[in-house]
Amino acid sequence: MSTRALYIGLMSGTSVDAVDAVLVDLASPAPSLVAAHSHPIADELRSAILKLCSGDVAGLPALGETHIALGEVFAQASLSLLKLADIAAEEVVAIGSHGQTIWHEPNGDKPFTLQIGDANTLAERTGITTVSDFRGRDMAAGGQGAPLAPLLHQHLFTSARTSRAIINIGGISNITFLNPATPPFAFDSGPGNVLMDGWIAQHRGRKFDENGSWASEGVVHRALIAMLRQDPFFSKGAPKSTGRELFNSAWLETKLELLDEPVAPVDVQATLAQLTIQSLVSALQEHGDPEEIYVCGGGAHNRTLMEGLANALATRTVGTTEALGIHPDWVEAIAFAWLAKQTLDGRAMETSGFTGARAPVVLGAIYQR
Ligand SMILES: Nc1ncnc2c1ncn2[C@@H]1O[C@H](COP(=O)(O)OP(=O)(O)O)[C@@H](O)[C@H]1O
Ligand SMILES: [Mg+2]
Repeated sequence: MSTRALYIGLMSGTSVDAVDAVLVDLASPAPSLVAAHSHPIADELRSAILKLCSGDVAGLPALGETHIALGEVFAQASLSLLKLADIAAEEVVAIGSHGQTIWHEPNGDKPFTLQIGDANTLAERTGITTVSDFRGRDMAAGGQGAPLAPLLHQHLFTSARTSRAIINIGGISNITFLNPATPPFAFDSGPGNVLMDGWIAQHRGRKFDENGSWASEGVVHRALIAMLRQDPFFSKGAPKSTGRELFNSAWLETKLELLDEPVAPVDVQATLAQLTIQSLVSALQEHGDPEEIYVCGGGAHNRTLMEGLANALATRTVGTTEALGIHPDWVEAIAFAWLAKQTLDGRAMETSGFTGARAPVVLGAIYQR
């Protein structure tokens, strides 16, 4: 046997597009990606998840059934990944499973975040120790519970020479600021793909806007973008995190109704892409205008977003995390494999600059093999 330390990371984000599954070797400080697999989520299960996310109270049985069904899918994703890599379950130290967020309310006097996808089922079906529920402990320690992937960004991507921003454009966007001389910080900047996904599904019956090409055919609507940008979330200070509870189709419809003129669907799509770009750019500019920008998450494939960012930040290096050695599709899943190792090693994580937690805590709950 080699001295490998194999971990699986599982991620299903706000987009509910697929389960990202990675097998990584964490024997040395920099994770090495052994295999990666994008596991489908069936339409019926996706609908059940989105119904729960809408706060449309489907009742506890529906919540329970979806929790277990998703646990089975996570197990299938892990087993398919192992098969692909030709690795036996016994060789894997642990699985880090983020779970599917169905509610995230970090503010108020009873903050609450819920990720589903039963880790008992996952441990039982795979025979692999599973670490899950990373966000809950952070929240109990006074943090937002999110974003957590910046912990890996900090670990891997900090440069001793230049200021960097790592931008994850998933359903929601978050930015990690890495400066050579000051502590790192991160926050959610607002929507990533979630509003564009919803709009194209409604008007074109597609799951997402491939390459951002529909958005590129439209014209940004000035009054609409101004109205969208007025949402208080954008001007709120960090730490902050968000999700479908705020940025959803009802949010968009309310703003559209307030306009006194109709907007062509293609122009709405262009405006939504612009909202993602502008909210990222203004967050970058308000926080020191980093020298180098690296994008990860599905938004890295959206040409309209990437070109919009590059144009707005013309004096900066704008690329994807591929330039730093990690393919943009797998950064988040790798983060949760790496976090599982931190949990098993009993390491308290310093999240104060990311989530605002009062003190470092060991994140995650362990389900033994
Ligand atoms: N080729 C592509 N062109 C445009 N957008 C893409 C492409 N591939 C993925 N995406 C976008 O990325 C989203 C998934 O990104 P992901 O990082 O998995 O987000 P999440 O963490 O929210 O699941 C999709 O829903 C889609 O909007
Ligand atoms: Mg995803």
